[in-house]
Amino acid sequence: MCGIVGYVGEKEATPVLINSLKKLEYRGYDSSGIAVINSAWNEDSSDEAIIVRKCKGAIKFLEEKIEAELVKGAINGKVGIAHTRWATHGEPSDLNAHPHTDVSGTIAVVHNGIIENYGELKAWLQSRGVVFKSQTDTEVIAHLLNYFYTQGAEGVRSENTRGDIFASVHAARQKLVGSYALGVICKDFPDRLICVRKESPLIIGLGQNENFIASDVPAVLEYTREVYFLEQDEMAVLYNDHVDLFNAYAEKVVRQPFHVDWDISSAEKGGYAHFMLKEIHEQPKALHDTLKAHLVTEKSASGGKEGKPVALSFSDEINDADFKKMIQNAKRIVITACGTAYHAGVVGKYAFEKFARLPTNVDVASEFRYRDPILDKDDVFIVVSQSGETADTLAALRLAKSRGAKIIAITNCVGSTVSRESDYVIYTLAGPEIAVASTKAYTTQLMCLYMLALCFGSERGVLSRAEFERLLTELESISDKAQNILDNKTEIQKFASKQFNKSKIFYIGRQFDSANSLESAMKLKEDSYMHCEAFAAGELKHGPIALVDKDTLVIAIATEPSLYEKLASNIIEVKSRGAATMVITSDTSGAFDSCCDSVIQIPSGESALESMLSVIPAQLFAYYCSVLRGNDPDKPRNLAKSVTVE
Ligand code: AGP
Ligand code: GLU
Repeated sequence: MCGIVGYVGEKEATPVLINSLKKLEYRGYDSSGIAVINSAWNEDSSDEAIIVRKCKGAIKFLEEKIEAELVKGAINGKVGIAHTRWATHGEPSDLNAHPHTDVSGTIAVVHNGIIENYGELKAWLQSRGVVFKSQTDTEVIAHLLNYFYTQGAEGVRSENTRGDIFASVHAARQKLVGSYALGVICKDFPDRLICVRKESPLIIGLGQNENFIASDVPAVLEYTREVYFLEQDEMAVLYNDHVDLFNAYAEKVVRQPFHVDWDISSAEKGGYAHFMLKEIHEQPKALHDTLKAHLVTEKSASGGKEGKPVALSFSDEINDADFKKMIQNAKRIVITACGTAYHAGVVGKYAFEKFARLPTNVDVASEFRYRDPILDKDDVFIVVSQSGETADTLAALRLAKSRGAKIIAITNCVGSTVSRESDYVIYTLAGPEIAVASTKAYTTQLMCLYMLALCFGSERGVLSRAEFERLLTELESISDKAQNILDNKTEIQKFASKQFNKSKIFYIGRQFDSANSLESAMKLKEDSYMHCEAFAAGELKHGPIALVDKDTLVIAIATEPSLYEKLASNIIEVKSRGAATMVITSDTSGAFDSCCDSVIQIPSGESALESMLSVIPAQLFAYYCSVLRGNDPDKPRNLAKSVTVE
């Protein structure tokens, strides 16, 4: 996720771009940049036709970088684009920051999203002599545009593209696979800005003798409340006095603008009341993006449309031969993390032992680092960290490294310390997680751990090809199943309104559900401050059941059919002692109807994988209880988003 803005109008573009960009900093903030068509440029000028200024770090560093030039009027131009980045490909740096330009500086582009086929496009362009400067996927777009603009387009549905920037953008987007919101400017067309949208959001703000593009509404509200929300595959050309909209076939479309009556604060949250609720709802896309970045599908015979998933591949930096050797030699998996990331690690243990038959230890990092742990050179050490900056996790990583272990990092932040100090990095593509209580980071961490476990199982011959492909197809279905849960959340909200004053809440489950119940309990305690704990359902009778009375709520998680009956008896045990009961289950037979006050249905499938879905109703339950108890779900008391101190 990132922030894109663009401007065409009668004002100097740069101050408007910077001001608008700041309103999108919550969407990405590891680097930023602007590109403005230089209004002082002409063919004889030695100046830059397009002035590009960009740098690593927050937008304030960009402001400092251009301050002197702005004061002396050295950056003039009324058409420009800008970007605040949340890196997915290539660490945060001046070079990897957007905008990206072609080699001649004729065209500049900003991009939100992931170009899934950037590797093959990069190779195609390099075979035609194009030299790349950055590590990003985005840079291929700038060079592809220039290629079509100067050489013409091959094999696409488009008029001749030579010298036609609109036709070049239309041609290029037919070659791109993945998600992209693009802003494009060209020095030869100093009166316009072109944009296109696929998956990643993009809006057009309609002002008085000025028009805007932006990733989200907050960027334009200061200037206009009349907007177009670009639809899938739509393009637009913005001039200072009008905007032309086009469909996927470059045919003009006409539409009424939408009047935005949100305030800035709710606009930043995409219309949701809190970032936490917004991020819970971003999980289907985050899960899709995280898996798709590594899923290899069999191109169907008809070409174009993707076939069934057949393999997993990890990032270019992972040297396949070494990675495969590490998998073959592995004797044990050791997972270390903190908090929510630790809970993901517990699920990871069940996944590695089930799908790869590898003994797996999981440790909280704050314990691991002081325990003089036993580590072997054939141990595969996995650290999980959303921020990639957690002090205890870093200390554990460094300790393992000092003992010769190979380190795989799972993190949400490109360029974070954890990512830089590990041998291999697998990114959760969840985008910035603003709410302190982790939601989309957790489920995408699970997605990465499942991918690794399946990859180890397949490489070590534990999973047959057919079984591996079946499980990959199951993983692919998780995103839609998550959406299905989010589309049916009324029952959860209703139950929260009855239970938010309970004094004791227990989550219980068995196997993968027992592991996921840890995170479900964490969400409730850290967001609603209700005392909540999770434990294996079979442990009830070994102590905790002494706590159960009429002030207790017990939430069971049941996604494994062979264990439904056992869970039902556990629920009856607590119900007979006065507890209120809810079950989150994939059961459709009604096995829990008689013993539960509320049954939350989630989609069924391979229960070892579907179990991860059970955390989504739990996240929602925690959120609703937090709001009902008058808390701020985004900023729970006493907690920080990243614990960079011991
Ligand atoms: C999760 O809701 C908490 N914010 C916290 O437990 C967090 O997961 C933990 O501090 C680890 O953070 P990390 O993933 O950035 O390392
Ligand atoms: N994939 C692009 C990059 O890594 C864009 C990321 C974003 O949306 O900020 O630069």
